[in-house]
Amino acid sequence: MKVFEIGDYSKGFGLHAAERPVPVPGYGEAVMRVRATGINARDLTIMRGSLGKTVMPRTRVPLSDNAGDIIAAGPGAENIQVGDRVTMNHYWQWLDGDWRASMAEQDYSATIDGFLAEQVVVPAAALIKLPESLGYEEASALQSPGLTAWNAVVEAGAAKASDTVLTLGSGAVSVFGMQWAKMLGARCIITSSSDQKLARLKALGADFGVNYRANPDWPAEVLELTGGEGADILLNNVGLSEMENCLMAAASNGRIMHIGANPVVHNQPPQEPPALTKLPNLILKNLTVRGIIVGSRRMFVDLIQAMVSNNIRPVIDRVFDWDDIYAAIEYMQSGKKIGKIVIRVT
Ligand SMILES: NC(=O)c1ccc[n+]([C@@H]2O[C@H](COP(=O)([O-])OP(=O)(O)OC[C@H]3O[C@@H](n4cnc5c(N)ncnc54)[C@H](OP(=O)(O)O)[C@@H]3O)[C@@H](O)[C@H]2O)c1
Repeated sequence: MKVFEIGDYSKGFGLHAAERPVPVPGYGEAVMRVRATGINARDLTIMRGSLGKTVMPRTRVPLSDNAGDIIAAGPGAENIQVGDRVTMNHYWQWLDGDWRASMAEQDYSATIDGFLAEQVVVPAAALIKLPESLGYEEASALQSPGLTAWNAVVEAGAAKASDTVLTLGSGAVSVFGMQWAKMLGARCIITSSSDQKLARLKALGADFGVNYRANPDWPAEVLELTGGEGADILLNNVGLSEMENCLMAAASNGRIMHIGANPVVHNQPPQEPPALTKLPNLILKNLTVRGIIVGSRRMFVDLIQAMVSNNIRPVIDRVFDWDDIYAAIEYMQSGKKIGKIVIRVT
């Protein structure tokens, strides 16, 4: 079967096609025929050879988003059958309950080969059956960005209709954050560097769009839009470089969801984290800063149910074929997209 390996990343991307033996499921495992996968910001980091302190072997198969069908089930693989249409969380051990940092040791595409492959061995316990109404390409858009935004807005944020949700950028996490906020009846302010993108985001449901490039003091615009109050739930999908702005744009008792972990701007050198001069706002406004790490299987099940009940579709900018993976990576780095890039596999 065919896979892509990250290859020799010493001079940038070294992604190359490779052949592997057809996988055989062990006890409690199944084999997913991958139908679709997707590229996320962290995948570019992994393809450049590391994730945090983890150095990637050059044979690592990247990409963590996934949707496919089961073509083999091993002994003890309960509740799953050949033919089932499925998806799963890349931190597959987080089934329910509280997150444990040790769960990051089992991470598809980082510590285990990922889904840029025709077939992948998967733990049956982690699988979630897909409803008929959700196609493979749509389902493969959900796992990393959709679930992360769900955790931030619905679970950790506990957004309600009276809240204002601020979500940074027009990337995949941000657009899902907007969709979950609107699903709950909250008001949503979204930011972008492009007025064109903001017009599209408003057509997709955002109440207000703020151009962070045209107005570097965009937190002041957020305050103005909220009658001086600020946002109650803030999705910082960029990282520490936007923490100061979030501290300024937050309402009293606001909750800042710290999500951005990998570079989201690809044509500039990585920025040094700035000194936090606005930190007194943390106390003055009684704020909460909360780290978000994707979400559990149980949250993912809830997300899929909510999509079906509310007829919410993921915002997919472009679908690329398997053979066009290099073009997909290039497009991801261009910063032109809104929402998600998906790869059709088989
Ligand atoms: N914590 C977790 O569990 C978790 C899970 C998933 C992703 N993440 C992280 O979340 C971040 C976003 O991921 P993604 O998949 O949504 O990325 P993405 O799809 O590549 O989105 C990137 C977008 O960020 C926007 N952006 C860049 N600089 C900005 C700034 N200064 N202010 C506001 N927006 C800015 C740009 O929007 P415009 O083009 O509109 O300007 C860009 O399109 C990444 O760091 C990723 O690693 C974390």
